[in-house]
Amino acid sequence: MTARKPRVLATRHFPPDVEARLAANFDAVLNPDDRLFDGPALVAAAAGCDAIMCAAGDVMSAETVAALPASVRMIATFSVGYEHIDVAAAARKGIVVSNTPDVLTDATADIAMLCLLGAARRAQEGIQMLRTHNWVGWSPTQLMGVHVTGKRLGILGMGRIGQAMADRARAFRMQIHYSNRTRLAPDLEKGAVFHADPDDMLAHCDFLSINAPMTPATRKWVNAERIAKLPKGSVVVNTARGGVVDDEALIAALKSGRLAAAGLDVFDGEPKIHQGYYDLANAFLLPHMGSATVETRNAMGFRALDNLEAVLLRKQPAPDAVKAS
Ligand code: DGY
Repeated sequence: MTARKPRVLATRHFPPDVEARLAANFDAVLNPDDRLFDGPALVAAAAGCDAIMCAAGDVMSAETVAALPASVRMIATFSVGYEHIDVAAAARKGIVVSNTPDVLTDATADIAMLCLLGAARRAQEGIQMLRTHNWVGWSPTQLMGVHVTGKRLGILGMGRIGQAMADRARAFRMQIHYSNRTRLAPDLEKGAVFHADPDDMLAHCDFLSINAPMTPATRKWVNAERIAKLPKGSVVVNTARGGVVDDEALIAALKSGRLAAAGLDVFDGEPKIHQGYYDLANAFLLPHMGSATVETRNAMGFRALDNLEAVLLRKQPAPDAVKAS
């Protein structure tokens, strides 16, 4: 008699090569229509499952995790961020949680640079002008933006993505400042200026890039008080998590001209983003595309599967197990 394959619920429609491997190695419960599960629907769909492969938008609160069937032994998220999962609640039930570090570093840093450039150089306004047939031709004062080359970039969160962002910014001869829980070794710091207190970094930021995870400590970290410490006319870039920014404060600063622009790929409460952003010409907005390349999304899926296979097929620890922060 052949052994039963562990059953894995895929909460989202994942890339074809990822789903093919999932279906080959597991009894996969797929979601071809990519319908979204709320907590109770997720709990119901997980009936009889050994594991759940979820993604960034799937909120697994303490209540949802507590209600999961006892058969669920693992949650593998198709994301590096895992603030959507109550990891402590999972640990209480003996559920292993894993994420997908490393593989989305470059793609996300690319989008961070796109947000920085798009915001500084008023790309959104330019595209809009052109596509609405309102471009009447080149003019000496048209769409003048903020110069990037040689300016100071402050990075909040100098993990893998923050460092990759710094590498890209160095190609623009930007001077890098950063704040991180721990100072980097000189070979990783590469001459960047470390600020033990992130608040002390703000006065040095012509550009501020948020590359820190969402934690209770970073929730609404970019607030009115900190925006006031940035040089007037600076640019804020966020490709980490929307919740790190206080939307009301950022929108007010963009409206008043205190900040020249913002480049945002992530939003608090996405996809229902703060209405105020829609009316701001100086907000360069993308719909959470940081990891959206074919190569990266496949690599994220394969990394999630590496973890599922280790735990469910080989009875080994998950290589990317995460703990409650
Ligand atoms: C992540 O992996 O956390 C990303 O935000 C999803 O692209």
